[in-house]
This record gives sequence, structure tokens and C-alpha cells, in this order.
Amino acid sequence: MGPLALFAASIFLFVIELCQHVDGTGSKCDIYKGKWVYDASYPLYNSSNCPFIHQEFSCQNNGRPDHLYQNFRWQPTSCNSPRFNGKDFLRKFRGKRIMFVGDSLSLNQWQSLTCILHRAVPGEAYISQRVEAISTFSFPAYGVSIMFIRNAFLVDIINDKDGRVLKLDSIEGGRNWKGYDVLIFNTWYWWLLTGTKQPWDYIQYNNITRKDMNRMVAYRKALGTWAGWVKHNVHPAKTKVFFQGVSPNHTDSREWGDPTTKTCRGETWPTLSTAYPSGPPAAQDVLKRALRSVAKAVHLLDITGLSQLRKDGHPSAFGYGGHRGNDCTHWCLPGVPDIWNQLLFASLMQN
Ligand SMILES: *[C@@H]1O[C@H](CO)[C@@H](O)[C@H](O)[C@H]1NC(C)=O
Ligand SMILES: *[C@@H]1O[C@H](CO)[C@@H](O)[C@H](O)[C@H]1NC(C)=O
Ligand SMILES: *[C@@H]1O[C@H](CO)[C@@H](O)[C@H](O)[C@H]1NC(C)=O
Repeated sequence: MGPLALFAASIFLFVIELCQHVDGTGSKCDIYKGKWVYDASYPLYNSSNCPFIHQEFSCQNNGRPDHLYQNFRWQPTSCNSPRFNGKDFLRKFRGKRIMFVGDSLSLNQWQSLTCILHRAVPGEAYISQRVEAISTFSFPAYGVSIMFIRNAFLVDIINDKDGRVLKLDSIEGGRNWKGYDVLIFNTWYWWLLTGTKQPWDYIQYNNITRKDMNRMVAYRKALGTWAGWVKHNVHPAKTKVFFQGVSPNHTDSREWGDPTTKTCRGETWPTLSTAYPSGPPAAQDVLKRALRSVAKAVHLLDITGLSQLRKDGHPSAFGYGGHRGNDCTHWCLPGVPDIWNQLLFASLMQN
């Protein structure tokens, strides 16, 4: 073979390799691109068999009349994502500690993971306890612990003489996140709250204290502080870090192409296309940019788009025994966060 033929052959092989990645047989398949498909072998557990499930997520126990929303799985376009295998997970993470850090959407995912694992080894002894801000669920026989620590902003809120100050460049809370094998962070929902729901009185950055500022800018600065914490405190060989993408709400049906401005209440069916009419929420872009500076150390669990397609997945009136409010922010369990965990499982098993 002459040099030209060799060159042509190597181009040919390169193209083959490229195609393998693109068609999903290689490792480059984007598991976050796809659609929801009906699958009667789901859900992964039954809420009446998850004895420690929090009432606010337990929609069936709270009287939600429809149940098909539990029977959908996520089908990536160009590959398959493995079904969550709880026993494999426990074996692989023997002796490890996994922690979710964030608001109640982290609690939602933590709870889903504990129910999935309990269902995988139903006879296995477990301990579920809460000590101060840390909830711990563990299987002593495997030495696996799954923790949740509530921290809505990741950066600090301190009390000083004038009130509660949200400090965008301070992250003392990080002392509680050290030494874990897997960390899964999240923050977004609380950044938009105003009035009596807003849990701070002042906001501080660079030693300047204000009454308020553009919330998107504040979110970006806080994420920058958090990324700095990761750079200085996480050893990528020891700790795998994930960030739970922005969890979308369904409080306005115009986002899914219904002009009547309904909420998620009464929705019983997902959006079965691959694209959501309103496009991604603005916060997702801010988050993706912030994660660029720590791209090697942090994997974005990019659940935003796939969750946008699940207007049927929220508790609505069946979150608090059916009488308190209309929750279109959290997710019923079993339900959408089980799939977030399945994708987390896929990412953890890949490397
Ligand atoms: C869940 O368990 C309850 C009680 O054992 C049973 O009545 C119900 O049919 C189960 N639901 C599913 C979806 O398997
Ligand atoms: C804020 O002010 C304190 C006290 O004046 C000073 O020690 C600190 O370095 C300042 N921090 C920044 C980020 O400017
Ligand atoms: C729901 O999400 C939209 C962005 O898609 C946001 O503008 C709105 O404030 C959110 N509503 C609630 C109640 O969180």
C-alpha cells in the first residue's frame, strides 16, 4: 500500500469511529436527549412498599386517582439507558457515602433513591434517621449511606444585627460536604422567591450590602462561589460531583402549548415529543455557563428538558393529603425523580 492508500484507510477508520459515537454504540451518546415511552414494567417500586416515604411525595397514598404517570420510562434517542439495578448499585458502592445537598428537590431525589434501593433488597435491614440538618439512610450490611442535607442556596445566610444576610461570596456550609464519595448538588427554586417567602432581608457581594439585586445575577455569582469551593475542596479521583439541573415547574400551561393558563392540576399524560414548546428556562443557561469552569470535576445531571415533558408528574392537590395547596413544583414518587436516579446510575456505572 502506498502512503496515499494508507492515508485514505485511516480516514475511513476515523469516519467509522465517528459514526459509532454518533449512533450511540460508543460512549458519546447523549442520554438526556430522547422521549418518554409507556412501559408497564415501571414503576421501580410501589409507594405502599416504601415505608419511610414522605407524605408530600406519596401521591397514590394521598388519593391521586390516576396512575399511568408511573409507567413511563425515558428512552434516549441513540442508545439505551440501563434500568436501575439496586443490587449492582449496592455492591458497587459498598462502604461508600453519597450526599445530596440542596433544597426540597434534592430531598425528592434522595427519597426516590432510598425507595428504589429498599425495593431492590426488601429484606435487608436499613436505618433511616435525621440528626440536625442531615438525613441519613443506610444499609449496615453494605455500609452504603445516602445522605441529604438541606441547603437552599449553597452560599450562606447569616444573622447580623439588621437581619438575615444572603452572602453570595461566602460558603462556610461547605465544611459539611467534605469526605464524601459522591456529591449531588442543586440550587435554583429559592432564588426567585420574594415577600414573606424570601428567607433573607439583605443580599451581600464584595462587601456591598443591598436590599435586593437582579436574581439571575445573584444566582450566577453564588454558583461562581460554589465552583470555587469545588476547585479547592474536591479531589476528582476521590469524589464524583454531580449537579442536578434546574427542575422545571408546570404552573402555566402556555409553556406546553395550551393557551388556557391552567396549572399542572388534572394533567395525566406526558408531552410525548422530544421538544418542549417554551424552550429551556433561563436559569438553565446560567447554570451551564457556571459549570464550564469546573467541567472536568462536575457532571451536570441534565434533567431539565426531560422533566419539562412531564406536566403530569407533579403532586398538584395530592401532595399534602389532598388538602393543602396545588404543588406543581415537586414530583410524585414513584415518578420522574426515579428516572433522574436511573440517569445518575448510568453515569456512575460508566466510569
Ligand atoms: C401497590 O401495593 C398495594 C398494596 O400491596 C397494591 O394494592 C397496589 O396494587 C400496588 N400497586 C402497584 C402499582 O403495583
Ligand atoms: C470585606 O471587608 C472586610 C473587613 O473590612 C475585609 O477584611 C475583607 O477582606 C473584605 N472582603 C472583600 C471580598 O472585599
Ligand atoms: C416556574 O418556572 C418559571 C420559569 O419556567 C418561573 O418564571 C416561575 O417563577 C416559576 N414558578 C414557581 C411558582 O416556581
